[in-house]
Amino acid sequence: MCGIVGAASSRNIVPVLVQGLQRLEYRGYDSCGVAVHAGGLTRTRTTSRVADLLTQVHDDQVEGLTGIAHTRWATHGAPVVHNAHPHFSYGPGEGPDSTKPPRVALVHNGIIENHEALRASLQARGYVFSSQTDTEVIAHLIDSHYDGDLFEAVKASVKQLHGAYAIAAICRDEPHRVIGARAGSPLILGVGADGTENFLASDAMALAGVTDQIVYLEEGDVVDLQPGKYWIVDRAHKPVARTVRTVQAHSGAAELGPYRHYMQKEIFEQPRAIGDTLEGVQGIVPELFDGVGQDGATGASAHRVFKAIDKVLILACGTSYYSGCAAKYWLEGIAKIPTQVEIASEYRYRDSVPDPKTLVVTITQSGETADTLAALKHARSLGMEHTLTICNVATSAMVRECKLAYITRAGVEIGVASTKAFTTQLAGLFLLTLALAQAKGRLSDADEARYLKEMRHLPVALQSVLALEPQLISWSEDFARKENALFLGRGLHYPIALEGALKLKEVTYIHAEAYAAGELKHGPLALVTSEMPVVAVAPNDALLEKLKSNLQEVRARGGVLYVLADRDTQIDSSEGIHVIRMPEHYGALSPLLHVVPLQLLAYHTACARGTDVDKPRNLAKSVTVE
Ligand code: F6R
Repeated sequence: MCGIVGAASSRNIVPVLVQGLQRLEYRGYDSCGVAVHAGGLTRTRTTSRVADLLTQVHDDQVEGLTGIAHTRWATHGAPVVHNAHPHFSYGPGEGPDSTKPPRVALVHNGIIENHEALRASLQARGYVFSSQTDTEVIAHLIDSHYDGDLFEAVKASVKQLHGAYAIAAICRDEPHRVIGARAGSPLILGVGADGTENFLASDAMALAGVTDQIVYLEEGDVVDLQPGKYWIVDRAHKPVARTVRTVQAHSGAAELGPYRHYMQKEIFEQPRAIGDTLEGVQGIVPELFDGVGQDGATGASAHRVFKAIDKVLILACGTSYYSGCAAKYWLEGIAKIPTQVEIASEYRYRDSVPDPKTLVVTITQSGETADTLAALKHARSLGMEHTLTICNVATSAMVRECKLAYITRAGVEIGVASTKAFTTQLAGLFLLTLALAQAKGRLSDADEARYLKEMRHLPVALQSVLALEPQLISWSEDFARKENALFLGRGLHYPIALEGALKLKEVTYIHAEAYAAGELKHGPLALVTSEMPVVAVAPNDALLEKLKSNLQEVRARGGVLYVLADRDTQIDSSEGIHVIRMPEHYGALSPLLHVVPLQLLAYHTACARGTDVDKPRNLAKSVTVE
């Protein structure tokens, strides 16, 4: 989703700004732009890729010591150049066609909820709007408060904003200053190495190779950046010192190696990612989940919390929500703890019955998802203070907001469709299940040893599943010609069917739906024809015989089946039934393995259809707005 980079420096900062945008490309965007102070304010915007922006600024010899840059993911207004950021304010009565130069340039990530009222009042004061965005309102608002001090103008403006924002602004009359502010959307400050420059960005990755000295701005902070100094005030506009952390952010532009796309690379990285996630797990100890700083140097104690709670509430979105749905089966089946899984965007707005003895678990690969963060705050506002996150970014807002944390080690995920982040979440959730079972005295030493052995086998097991790729390529040739697909699973594998359908629709644009197989005859069976491929996740578990009956129902209606069966499952390929045999039966950990062929199926079908696999249309990697 939208990405921000800003800099106040004593060197030409345009290359740093545009490279920063390139590192934020993975978040998803549909236009981009940069504005610098070069005597006056000048900007370059495009609905093309950041690489084209780079060519444009190079050809036009755009240079400046102070600047702001942005990748936009359209919310208010279509993805066209006049809606792209940075937005200018020329002052009342003036617009792009006037001879007066612009006074304020602004980039924004978030959604301003009262933008219509603000727009009307600014228009009444003579401000001319040239976009449909909520962002342009902020540019004019800052201009309306401007009286020779941009910092003061931003402070006055943010008081009038309702909604979520991270902003960066520069001003014609103050060539060495960038002002930033955040509430509800992420923004970091990067402290330059030699005291001659400072930066703003949506995340530390944008500044990889530029600085590793990072300040995570907090809710309501406003920051004044100049080449050799910076100054932060908090939400009450009182001066505040924020900790500077050393953050080793890796550039998002990891090499593709032998792979065609990041999605393929990330699918194949799963044995490594799971191995890293489980590294150092010698036994099931609650300390695996201890907080990372919020409650003092060592964080909160998971041991105390796990003993105190008697329920789990999981909050997440999208793929992360599906990992939570799978974890419910483990938490109730193994740890015997009542577990509720909620879509974050629903939970935050519905009336629910809170219980303070609940462990609130957020699952998020990015740690910045606006709905999940808001759902967490909502749960806390209802008196549920035991919070834990399963997250892939140790420095994210979510990790800072939760008392306990388990950091998965998937590594940076560039492909918008989540793959290795999902399987590492499952690994973290399985460990959480065992830790809770142990805290409740429901995990015998023998079971602990057995589960740990099975977990340690996962990287090898994943390698053998990845070796099925040629068979999935063959399936993908059939799927590439279809416009609909149905996914079926039962029990623990129903969430895997849901995830398989999500992967297929995200990257291939094929309409895919998933059902708990027992639901088939209650409606979706009406859809089944020879044109509707039906994927079935069929491990050799207690529900296999039931699932087989469901598959008969599909075959009897002429539906063509694509079955992922365990090695020892008696389902064979025949007319209308294509079977891929999984190398082993994986027991409770089976979801981590069965999802992999579904990822490969989606990936290869997308390749066959020629879609933009790593950046599917309309989607963003980091969903930082509601
Ligand atoms: C789909 C996908 C999304 C995310 C969702 C939540 O492949 O990646 O559905 O899972 O946007 O994102 P996080 O996990 O960052 O909270």
